[in-house]
Amino acid sequence: MTNTICRVEYNDYINKNIKKMGISGIEHKREVLPGQFLHIKPGSDYHGLLLRRPISISDVLPSTGIMEIIYLIKGPGTAELSRLKPGDGVDVLGPLGNGLVLDDNVKNLLLIGGGMGVAPLLYAARYYKHLSLNGIFGWRDTGSLIPLGAAKDFMDRVYICTQDGSTGHRGLVTDIFCERVEDIRPDMVFACGPVAMLKEVQRLCTRFGLDSRFSMEERMGCGVGSCMTCACKIERDGNWQYERVCCDGPVFNGQRVVFD
Ligand SMILES: Cc1cc2nc3c(=O)[nH]c(=O)nc-3n(C[C@H](O)[C@H](O)[C@H](O)COP(=O)(O)OP(=O)(O)OC[C@H]3O[C@@H](n4cnc5c(N)ncnc54)[C@H](O)[C@@H]3O)c2cc1C
Ligand code: FES
Repeated sequence: MTNTICRVEYNDYINKNIKKMGISGIEHKREVLPGQFLHIKPGSDYHGLLLRRPISISDVLPSTGIMEIIYLIKGPGTAELSRLKPGDGVDVLGPLGNGLVLDDNVKNLLLIGGGMGVAPLLYAARYYKHLSLNGIFGWRDTGSLIPLGAAKDFMDRVYICTQDGSTGHRGLVTDIFCERVEDIRPDMVFACGPVAMLKEVQRLCTRFGLDSRFSMEERMGCGVGSCMTCACKIERDGNWQYERVCCDGPVFNGQRVVFD
């Protein structure tokens, strides 16, 4: 993990308010794991954009090593990122976080993603393409959808849904999870998305007796474990304790995450 000025290779719209940025020159000694993220400085201190923004790595291109991020233009930080052009420098800290590491006995992985939470799952699909792999992805509507790109080819079956039915099935990812779990029979679920979705995935995994990993989001400060801004509650030995999303996570055992 290093702090480097990297180069923006491309920064293109892939939906109305969503962009994909390719970044080259990010140094990393270890293999990049799904769920790891980049902590990106969007602008200069002068513009009040001192705080870095955490964005998941959504792909690492094997031919060039370019790392991709997919981000929603939400507030001033991501708006500033959206203005970067090919050839511009960008201050990147990372890859950060633990990432998803699976035991060898996991053979059948189910990815469940909602909204921008689909972004890190795209790299999970590439990284774990040697497994039996299925995906259930959902968005509010077609205007908030993330195109799956190459990730689609790595999965056996992909189920898409939108809440308004404008693309794919009408409904929620958890509806499809309930309908398909008997056919898919996963031995691990990797999920990322809004808290309401994760809560329901957790409840269903308990009901179906499935092991799970969740990639969590919390507001961040330092990104490297020293400020505790990103604390989330994790159950340990029948009790709970605060753990840091930036360095103990963002990937946690899904059945151990305590939602308030
Ligand atoms: C581990 C991790 C991975 C993420 N991956 C992605 C991704 O792949 N794509 C994507 O679009 N977004 C992702 N996010 C959310 C992203 O960090 C925020 O949308 C972004 O920081 C918003 O910044 P802003 O200045 O544009 O918006 P503002 O809402 O104005 O942000 C103000 C402050 O709140 C923080 N903040 C706002 N929303 C979030 C959030 N959801 N999570 C954490 N901090 C937040 C910002 O970092 C900033 O410090 C991720 C967050 C985390 C923690
Ligand atoms: S962001 Fe500072 S400890 Fe996690």
